[in-house]
Amino acid sequence: MSSKVLAFINFKGGVGKTATVVNIGATLAKLHEKKVLIVDLDPQSNSSIWLMRPDRWREHVSKGRRSTFQIFDDALHGKARFDFDETVVKGVVTWTGFTDLPRLHLLPAAVELLRVEDRIHELRAPVVYQILDSALGLHFKEYDYVLLDCPPNLYSTTKTAIFSADGCVVPYVPDYLSLSGLMVLAEQIGEMREKFAPYLPPRRKPNIAAVIVSHYRQAGNVFRLAVNELELSLSQLQATGLLPDRAVLLQPYIRHCVRVAESTSEHLPVILYAPGSIGAQDYCDLTQRFVDLFESKK
Ligand SMILES: Nc1ncnc2c1ncn2[C@@H]1O[C@H](COP(=O)(O)OP(=O)(O)OP(=O)(O)O)[C@@H](O)[C@H]1O
Ligand SMILES: [Mg+2]
Repeated sequence: MSSKVLAFINFKGGVGKTATVVNIGATLAKLHEKKVLIVDLDPQSNSSIWLMRPDRWREHVSKGRRSTFQIFDDALHGKARFDFDETVVKGVVTWTGFTDLPRLHLLPAAVELLRVEDRIHELRAPVVYQILDSALGLHFKEYDYVLLDCPPNLYSTTKTAIFSADGCVVPYVPDYLSLSGLMVLAEQIGEMREKFAPYLPPRRKPNIAAVIVSHYRQAGNVFRLAVNELELSLSQLQATGLLPDRAVLLQPYIRHCVRVAESTSEHLPVILYAPGSIGAQDYCDLTQRFVDLFESKK
């Protein structure tokens, strides 16, 4: 199976990384019949809590076992305790207690991931950048899409995600102050590409593949103007080589939708929680574009 491994990154917090991973993942599984693995790499464990509910998640990842923390703990301490089959969670449990979306799988995170950042940089560079690939590469091949939900920073855990991905997807809230952040992000990834090229297999060239606009509001001019600025900025970054020409601003923009916000506490992706909402509609349309982008025969 030819899998696509995509890291969802932005060092700005609350921009919709988790919402995008969960909702694109669920839509790919439900409407496109894709086999999808969500890998939660954020100590906040938001996609895990969203899809598993707190009690089940807490019990499953007790002391960091059966979570992505174990992958890093193994690498740091020379252990081999991570077991994919024991850790992976299959499907989403609905209100009625039944499991839906059998094609959507999750490797949950645990708060213990917080401990990883302090120690991971002590490892030598080539090892750090291969941690996820070494532990999960063979399993990734069993999925059509692997979506890596990253924390809001560019520290070591996020770097391992960037280095094991075929491309990065940047969820972005269009406002004036976010623009400089996007440019810094593109520069940082450009630096990683140069600095670590010798350690990476040829097809692993960290790059931004797509930008997704989230929390879009039509009221007033401010978001429209900010999107215009974003488009301009993306073409400038492409002209300077910091962004590849094929990087795209995906449409449609995900509108701010109270149903999406509610769906987190109902522990369902929005297509299951409120299928008729604008949030569900936007994510369905966006996921179609996502498939067009990543499965084009270019
Ligand atoms: N389209 C939307 N409409 C309304 N609320 C949304 C939408 N998308 C996300 N949210 C809400 O915004 C909040 C932040 O979203 P999310 O957790 O996905 O961001 P994040 O980038 O993953 O955050 P962090 O950086 O902390 O990981 C969440 O409470 C989520 O429910
Ligand atoms: Mg998140």
